[in-house]
Parts: sequence; structure tokens; C-alpha cells
Amino acid sequence: MAESKATLSIDGNVVTDLPILKGTAGFDVIDIRTLGSKGYFTYDPGFLATASCESAITFIDGGKGVLQHRGYAIDDLAKKADYLEVCYILLNGDAPTKSQYDAFKKIITNHTMVHEKLAHFFQGFLPDAHPMAMVCAVVGALSSFYHSDLDIDDQAQRTRSAHRLIAKMPTIAAMAYKYSIGQPFVYPRNDLSYAENFLHMMFSVPAEEYKVSPTIASAMDRIFTLHADHEQNASTSTVRLAGSSGANPYACIAAGVASLWGPAHGGANEACLTMLEEIGTLDRVDEYVAKAKDKSDSFRLMGFGHRVYKNFDPRATVMRETCHEVLSELGIKDPLLDVAMALEKVALEDPYFIEKKLYPNVDFYSGIILKAIGIPTSMFTVIFAMSRTVGWISHWDEMLSQPGQKIGRPRQKYTGEIDRKFIPLKDR
Ligand code: SDX
Repeated sequence: MAESKATLSIDGNVVTDLPILKGTAGFDVIDIRTLGSKGYFTYDPGFLATASCESAITFIDGGKGVLQHRGYAIDDLAKKADYLEVCYILLNGDAPTKSQYDAFKKIITNHTMVHEKLAHFFQGFLPDAHPMAMVCAVVGALSSFYHSDLDIDDQAQRTRSAHRLIAKMPTIAAMAYKYSIGQPFVYPRNDLSYAENFLHMMFSVPAEEYKVSPTIASAMDRIFTLHADHEQNASTSTVRLAGSSGANPYACIAAGVASLWGPAHGGANEACLTMLEEIGTLDRVDEYVAKAKDKSDSFRLMGFGHRVYKNFDPRATVMRETCHEVLSELGIKDPLLDVAMALEKVALEDPYFIEKKLYPNVDFYSGIILKAIGIPTSMFTVIFAMSRTVGWISHWDEMLSQPGQKIGRPRQKYTGEIDRKFIPLKDR
């Protein structure tokens, strides 16, 4: 609903009026959809100031360090809800009643197994294949199991696709881990919670009973929640763009996995732990902060900075608290935590980081917790992808539910050659 307008004039000549549209919170948006008919495109590589869609799922206020899912604050959700309840909220819009939660949990639990043929896809990977490469490929392969009778215009079928993906991602993730260490795949168990089941599939072996630690399971569940969704980040935008053509949802989620893998995005948690291990000791922290500030050095402090948060990432705050809780409950003294705390302190007091508003993000502490609970570094981004699947598929479903949904098709500023005469090879 336009209540006010922007007037575009070029060199003093009015080109057009552009409606200003208001959401329920956050920035107003300038509706530029008619600009093409006036002979102009807007130019915004990296989408620094572009709203690509209308959404009611997640709200971020980067200046105030606010993150809400369907209006519920992330620290409330992380401390008072479990991940499956957060999945329900993201998918359906409101917190579930007890009976709605129980029904949802039962549905997800009963979709955790994968087709036996899916296991065969792993056999083509080299033993040292990165788990993200395996997850990306196998999630895409799910589209071959659910395609011919899939009607994505049918809400019930979209919902079933969402349930299948939320349920099967931990199974596939654990299979990737088991394959990488040469151990047999472990079937899910219906008597375990979502996080317990994942840990069971990751760490149990046929040779002996595996007891899931409640401390580790609850830390895992909180990490899932803290990574569940985050507005129109790169991987979510990838899923939306892929889905806007009507593509198979399992293939769209595979596209999201691919985008998340980059070190500038979800790959930062793995890169952050590798960086902390490279720094190694407190006396080397200053050296690395200096490297991060050195324009001639491409090194960046992984786990710092964010396109939207120009204040603390509220997830990092909860993650830091959880990090201390888990390490003390498990009686672990990890020198990397000392390095991380020192790095955070130095960086937050350094004018370079203050001026560029570079704060620890969600990836800064997650790696330390994951390492403490026994997750190998190569699986960190896989866990991020598992957690974010509910966000990706919620945005996919929201987009396809919106009337007048169009295929995403950005334009460009063309800087190449034009109207060249082509001379056939034989004459050149
Ligand atoms: C995630 O979008 C999301 O919501 C993502 C996410 C989600 O939940 O989906 O929150 C998850 O991806 C978190 C971000 C994880 N990535 C990292 O931790 C990698 C390190 N961070 C950076 O690469 C960077 O901060 C980004 C990618 C996160 C943000 O990049 P921007 O917004 O494009 O900012 P920029 O690269 O233009 O940097 C602005 C300035 C630059 O200096 P100048 O060119 O202005 O002189 O800040 C500097 C950068 O050099 N800078 C850093 C830095 N991050 C930015 N300098 C040192 N160390 C860093 N980490």
C-alpha cells in the first residue's frame, strides 16, 4: 500500500514518481518496478540496498542487533523453544499448541529415513570428499525420488516437501560423515529427539550402545535454532531465485547448500576454527588482527563482520553464552576459546573494526562449541546447512504462496562491445 512517493528527476527533469511502500517494521521500500518502462534500471551489485521480495518470516534490524522469527526474538526462541518448535513457527507463522507440536514432531520423525537407493549415491565419492560436496549432491539427488507426481502449486505437497527435507537433512548429513570416516550408515530412531537422533546417527556404531549426552544434545539443538533462518541472505536468495522458475524444491535446496558453502557465508564457521587453530596462542592474536587490517593482505578475520549487522549479531551473543556453558558442563578447557575471547576483545577495541562496525557474527563461536561436542571441522557447514533448510524451504513456500509470483530475472549494466561486424574465420 503506497502512502507516499519518491520523485525521480534527472538533470532537473522529472522522470517519474515512485511509490514508497511500508512494511510492518524496518525500512520503507521504493517501488521501482515501473522504472524499466522509463528507460532506466537501478544498479546494485551485491544487493546492498535492494529488497528482493516481500516476506513475513524473519525480521532483522542490523543497527539494533535485532533478529526475530515471525515476531519472536531469537534469544527467546534459543532458550525457551526447541528446534522443531522453531521449524513449526517458521513454516506456519505462529507458535504451535501442544497438540500441534506433537503432531508436527510425529510427522517429522516419520520422514527421517531415506530411500535405500539414496545410500548408493555416496559410493561414487572419493574417501576424502568434503561432506558439503556430498550433501549438495545427495540433496539434489532427492529430486529424482520426488518429482514426477510433485505439484508445487498444491500447498499440501509443498508442505510435505518441507517436512521431508527437514526430516531427512540430518540423516543425509550423518551419512556424509559416516562415509568420510568409513563407518556404516546409522538408521534414525523414532524414540529420539531431533538433536539426539542426529548425534546418534553421527556417533553410534553397531559394536556398542551409544548414549547421547543431554548437555551435548541441548547445545546441538540450540545451534540448530540459531542457524535456522536469516532473512534474504545469499543462500536463501539462491533458493528463492532457483524456486522462482518452478524448479524441483529438493534441487532448489541443493542450490542453497552450494551457496552456503562459501567462506564468506556459511563456510565461515569452518574457516573461523581453522583460523583460530592457525593463530594457536594468545601471543599471536595481535599479528592476525594486523593482517586483517592490512589492505595488501587478503586475510580477513573469519567470523567477523556482517552485511546487515552493524552492531552485535544477537546470535553471537547467545552462542558465546552457550559456548561457556557447554565447555564448563563438559569440563573442557579449550585454549582456542581463550584465543577467540582475546581476538574478540582486541578486535572490538581496535579503531579499524570499530569504524567498519565489524563484530563477531554467528559463525565466530559456533565452531568452538561444535569442536567441543566432537563434531569434526569439515562438518561445521553441513550442520549450518541442516539447520538452515527450514529457513530455505519456508521462504520457498512463502514465495510460491504469494499471488502473482514471477520468475526472478535481474537485468545489468552492459559494458561490452556493441554492433561489431563479424568476419568469418576463413577471411580473418
Ligand atoms: C553468514 O547474510 C547473512 O545473513 C549471512 C548469515 C546468515 O545467517 O545467513 O548471517 C551467515 O554468512 C555470516 C557471515 C560469515 N562470514 C564471515 O565471517 C567471513 C568474514 N566476513 C566478511 O567476509 C564480511 O564481513 C562479510 C562477507 C560477512 C560481509 O561483507 P560485506 O557486507 O560485503 O562487507 P565488505 O566485504 O564490503 O567489507 C566492508 C569493509 C571492507 O573494508 P573496505 O573495503 O571498506 O576498506 O570491512 C572489511 C572489508 O575489507 N571487512 C573485514 C572483514 N569483513 C569486512 N576486514 C577484516 N576482517 C573481516 N572479517
